[in-house]
Amino acid sequence: MKLIEFSLACAFSLLSSSFASAAIVEHTFRVQNTTIKRFCEEQVIVTVNGLFPGPTISVCEGDTVIVHVFNEGPYDITLHWHGVFQLFSPWADGPEYVTQCSIRPRSSYAYKFNVTQQEGTVWWHAHASYLRATVHGAFIIQPRSGQFPFPKPYKQIPLILGDLYKSNVEDITTEAQITGGGPNTSFAFTTMV
Ligand SMILES: *[C@@H]1O[C@H](CO)[C@@H](O)[C@H](O)[C@H]1NC(C)=O
Ligand SMILES: *[C@@H]1O[C@H](CO)[C@@H](O)[C@H](O)[C@H]1NC(C)=O
Ligand SMILES: *[C@@H]1O[C@H](CO)[C@@H](O)[C@H](O)[C@H]1NC(C)=O
Repeated sequence: MKLIEFSLACAFSLLSSSFASAAIVEHTFRVQNTTIKRFCEEQVIVTVNGLFPGPTISVCEGDTVIVHVFNEGPYDITLHWHGVFQLFSPWADGPEYVTQCSIRPRSSYAYKFNVTQQEGTVWWHAHASYLRATVHGAFIIQPRSGQFPFPKPYKQIPLILGDLYKSNVEDITTEAQITGGGPNTSFAFTTMV
């Protein structure tokens, strides 16, 4: 229900100002080791802000997004905004060693980009090694007008599909690279709101 309020907020900003000024949406993402308990078992995974799945980014078309990433975890990391067109900001796209060097442990980086002329529900995820298995979340770009290209939804509920591994996902990928075999598979599929 938060999202419906948000789309109304987008429409309101259009009505209340002839300039329909775009907002700056700022987030702080602390990448960190987190103990979670699923299926009665505790395990340590890397998360953003201790959340699994990670925080949702909700914006209106045309907004500027700034994400301050503090890497307090043990691994090099980058973040990718999957499905967001990086118009005039390709350096903010996130693939490790493609558009940027990784964010080293105990260092930080600020991603800054605009979501101009694009709408929809996509996701963000880690783009270094296999950290995306646990470092991901929804990225929702609401229409600035508050008008959907289909009848107004009664409710919006983002569903995040994922899977859960018994071991540290970095150990699994390292093991697969050493043996040349396939990586161990996950033991559960997850659907989370
Ligand atoms: C985080 O967890 C990993 C894997 O369990 C461990 O190797 C590392 O030492 C931990 N780092 C910190 C800073 O807690
Ligand atoms: C993003 O939008 C702001 C405000 O319109 C503008 O000043 C800035 O140049 C834009 N940045 C990019 C990378 O397009
Ligand atoms: C992968 O699975 C094999 C077989 O069950 C197990 O011996 C191995 O320890 C697992 N590797 C990791 C990194 O968990």
